[in-house]
Amino acid sequence: MSRLLYTLSAEDGLSRDLLAATDYQAGRMELRNFPDGESYVRILDDVKGRDVAILCQLHRPDTKVLPLLLLADTLHDLGASKVGLIAPYLSYMRQDKRFREGEGVSSHYFARLISQHLDWLIAVDPHLHRIHALDEVYTVPAVALTAVEPIAHWLREHVEKPLVIGPDSESEQWAARVGEAAGCPWEVLSKQRFGDRDVRVSVPHVDQYRDHTPVLVDDIISTGKTMLQAASHLHEAGLQGTICIGVHGIFADGALEEMRAAGVRVVTSNSIPDDSNEIDLAPLIARELASGPCLECD
Ligand code: R5P
Repeated sequence: MSRLLYTLSAEDGLSRDLLAATDYQAGRMELRNFPDGESYVRILDDVKGRDVAILCQLHRPDTKVLPLLLLADTLHDLGASKVGLIAPYLSYMRQDKRFREGEGVSSHYFARLISQHLDWLIAVDPHLHRIHALDEVYTVPAVALTAVEPIAHWLREHVEKPLVIGPDSESEQWAARVGEAAGCPWEVLSKQRFGDRDVRVSVPHVDQYRDHTPVLVDDIISTGKTMLQAASHLHEAGLQGTICIGVHGIFADGALEEMRAAGVRVVTSNSIPDDSNEIDLAPLIARELASGPCLECD
């Protein structure tokens, strides 16, 4: 019996590509709100004994998570064999410690919640910093794919002489591997964060790279302040034409427009759909679906 893919998102380009690249068939459901705002889920397939995946692009997650859990529970209840989650952007990974007294460690709570309702998880470049691997917090099989190769491929195709730059020490894991995979030099800057929208980035030593195109690479672009600060320092240091690559473009508060107005080119993957998407994750995820946790969690 073929596997089914349910898509919990209005923007279904990635879903279409995954269906085309795998043996999954599109799951059919009715998902709407009751007049009082509560979610209504009805499955229109016979899911008994079948393996099922749910694609949910978890940016701005709070309104998506309850329908996701209701959908997963409904599928289990109707007899689906395994119900997995494909979350190309995995939310709630950054509150990974109690930064201030009284705060919650929401990465842990979110992981516990998802692990209680889903049988496996695939994410792309989840923000692993103080949490070093997903299985430190997720209790179901959880795979962290990386967009390093798709980004390096994009660089090879689009940028003649790139200098890959990580805007902060946390981004070294992407900058180093992208630089190595693309066969170009890479550097990492240092950043201090003073508040949600207040970040300061060190001036880099880039004199030897004046004939290169600076390419900032980070996992997440949220307010865009990290990228903008870094791009501004690169500009002051004499590097022109900065390209900002974020695996996940969350773009809070009009950040994409602000970055474009500042004169940088913004490139993201299709983990979060918008017109900055130039890096396609479908082949990466499709490969994992062919061999990954969904097949190994019996
Ligand atoms: C840090 O935790 C992440 O890797 C990114 O550097 C950060 O999320 C970017 O945030 P913003 O765009 O708000 O500066």
